[in-house]
Amino acid sequence: MLNDLVNRKENLFPGKIIDYQQEENKFHFYTNTDVILFVQVLNPKIIRFRYAADGNFPPDFSYARDPDFTPELPLLEFIAHPDFFQLSTDQVVCLIQKEGMHIRILDKAGNTIMDDEKGYHWEYDLHTGNNIVKMSKWVQSGEHYYGLGDKSCNMNLRGRRLQNWSSDTYGYSRNSDPLYKNVPFYIGLHQKIAYGIFFDNTFRTYFDFAHERSNVTSFWAHGEEMNYYFIYGPSLIEVSEQYAFLTGRPEMPPLWALGYQQCKWSYYPEQTFKAIASGFRERQIPCDALYLDIDYMDGFRCFTWNKEYFPDPQRMIRELAADGFKTVIIIDPGIKIDKNYWIYQEGCAQDYFCRRSDGPFMKGSVWPGLCHFPDYTHPEVRDWWANLFKELITVDGVRGVWNDMNEPAVFEQGTFPDDVRFNYDGQPCSHRKAHNIYGMQMARATYQGVKKFCYPNRPLVITRSAFSGTQRFSATWTGDNVASWDHLWMANIQCQRLSISGMSFVGSDIGGFIETPTGELYIRWLQLGIFHPFCRTHSSGDHGDQEPWSFGEEYTQLAKKFIELRYQLLPYIYTAFWQHITYGTPMLRPLPFLNQDDTESYHRMAEFGLGDNLLICPITQPEVDGRWLYVPSGTWYYYWDDAEVVGGKEVWANAKLDRIPLYVRAGAVLPFYPVMQYVGEIEITQLTLHVYFVQGSVSSVLYEDAGDGYDYEKGICSEKIFLVTGSNTGLSISQEVKGSYAPIYTTYNIVLHGLPFVLKTVEVDGVLITPEPNPESAAETEQRENKLPEILVSKDFEQINIQGIIPESAEPDALINPE
Ligand code: GLC
Repeated sequence: MLNDLVNRKENLFPGKIIDYQQEENKFHFYTNTDVILFVQVLNPKIIRFRYAADGNFPPDFSYARDPDFTPELPLLEFIAHPDFFQLSTDQVVCLIQKEGMHIRILDKAGNTIMDDEKGYHWEYDLHTGNNIVKMSKWVQSGEHYYGLGDKSCNMNLRGRRLQNWSSDTYGYSRNSDPLYKNVPFYIGLHQKIAYGIFFDNTFRTYFDFAHERSNVTSFWAHGEEMNYYFIYGPSLIEVSEQYAFLTGRPEMPPLWALGYQQCKWSYYPEQTFKAIASGFRERQIPCDALYLDIDYMDGFRCFTWNKEYFPDPQRMIRELAADGFKTVIIIDPGIKIDKNYWIYQEGCAQDYFCRRSDGPFMKGSVWPGLCHFPDYTHPEVRDWWANLFKELITVDGVRGVWNDMNEPAVFEQGTFPDDVRFNYDGQPCSHRKAHNIYGMQMARATYQGVKKFCYPNRPLVITRSAFSGTQRFSATWTGDNVASWDHLWMANIQCQRLSISGMSFVGSDIGGFIETPTGELYIRWLQLGIFHPFCRTHSSGDHGDQEPWSFGEEYTQLAKKFIELRYQLLPYIYTAFWQHITYGTPMLRPLPFLNQDDTESYHRMAEFGLGDNLLICPITQPEVDGRWLYVPSGTWYYYWDDAEVVGGKEVWANAKLDRIPLYVRAGAVLPFYPVMQYVGEIEITQLTLHVYFVQGSVSSVLYEDAGDGYDYEKGICSEKIFLVTGSNTGLSISQEVKGSYAPIYTTYNIVLHGLPFVLKTVEVDGVLITPEPNPESAAETEQRENKLPEILVSKDFEQINIQGIIPESAEPDALINPE
């Protein structure tokens, strides 16, 4: 907080611009007060603003920015007017006032998108020797704010003040702030136009969205420089996409990492761990990954095994692997101070631990007792850390690593003292600057090692703390939540918010970490969790069991049904992941992202899209048999009974405990795998395509590759584009295939939903066929209430033309009735 500065508060402002220099897309503006503004146009939609208060810029360095992001040299128009400069791209116009350096950005139609109030100003913080750098902007009429990553409050941030200072927040609650992650990025939306601001500063940052003054939004940091990027949409999706390009996107995860995962603090000894594995297989509940929490270690020493609990980890992991389970282990940053522990010895000998400003290694208490902490901002330390994973992965067979406590968390103290020193990749600094990226750099070092040693398989890394850009290295979860209905509500908001803030590979501890859910709460949570990219049940050990079968037979069957649905949806979720890595598109999309022209949706937050074609709205209350929700414009089908819904309004969804409100977009082609117990268990010999009737045309994508390995980077992958075109009397489906990946399956079973007619003729690539019942499809359709027409076709089809007869006028004998 600022109160330690109360007596020294004085805002300083830049004077007047008296000179400038241009070098292609880069501009320097000089004032009569020694302030310099640097402006760089990175592409037609992204403009960077950097301010130096006293005529000097620190080295230009960012952990957040993706090193692969390459600025363009877009066409620019630059005009120096008497009172202001005008800088235009083909998307936006940026006006820079000479007096006070105020910035205003307009779209090409002349709408003001963003407008400085005080603009850049700062305070000297004599206490720390840093500037508090500030920026304030007018709130535009009807402006809404989204983003900021990991916040547990309402989706729309207007009226709030929030901060980024990663914190270990066990059992946080609605509106707790700050939480574990730091994403200094927000999106503004007004006049149906969206833009983003990314404030690339790792010090403690604050964002005030019309909280202190109802007409002003401001952000500031407790050090370094005002350095932000303006990102123009105009759509919300495009802002998120551009931000993801700027801060980076992950690689494709191994397909199994999108399967169901089971965790607990802690499963031990071996016998218990293996009983969990058998519990899944005996009940035929699919599961791909099992987690070992801190008790697998010897006295919580990282990179060791407790040999009493796990006498032969290599054998155990091999046996589990033979049954399809991947073992994921936790690794925390605290290295136990123990003279006989080789990692401690190495860290001390090589000077790899963080030091206090007066010299000694920093000490802090975490699970192992007193520890030292690696300085992951040192490239050598990251290399050392990465190499520590060699044995765990190549000898023991571990397939994924879970980084925790990396805010960094320290018992009692909360985190490191401010004076602790960091290398910061060659620009030494204190904890005040490095705190917010500590978790990110740990995840980066872990990813480096896991990737190296898992090769040729793909790695899985999960981190609790993060900064903007961490998505390049790691998945994430929302930390220590509670088994309560309120936390289920929060899990939904937090995951959507992280997703639009560049981090799509997200999930929550399903069922809640602290305390034990009722069977009903567990099922409602699982129903949401299967639509989150990272899908893992986790709980703390002390409160009872939390496996899918822990709540009685009725709930076990429901859990099985929803986890099976997750596996059926894998090709769809994998495709959404690919869209994320390719276009930066968030996998989870809040309602306003589905249609920002519909201002009704701006105040909704429970409903969200996953990928292009699914709309989900979890039930977050006990003992209800449905809920009201808002369906965005267009035609949708209720997944469970194919009832057609025309959107742009509220509807009631019937959803007893065996359903979650789930809608499919008309015209969608939803690819389904058969149910499997784990990825790779069975050879997929047929892919089901659920095709939903539409009046007009809609296209859908299916991305496929080997599901692991790196051949996809060499182009051995494929993108299939399905175009569905419907009318009252017919439907056509065309397929265009790009890329060379050849799946094992040879046929599609096409299941037709919502047809307004009865099938008369079906022509596949010019040949008339007679649809026949397809025995292999039974598994997929049994969960549905209606029997639907199905067509079995070659996976290489190009065009299917279906002619129908409207039932009233039909002569029953002339119809093909697949039943
Ligand atoms: C932290 C983590 C939690 C983990 C526990 C023990 O509380 O957030 O997921 O189970 O530590 O390692």
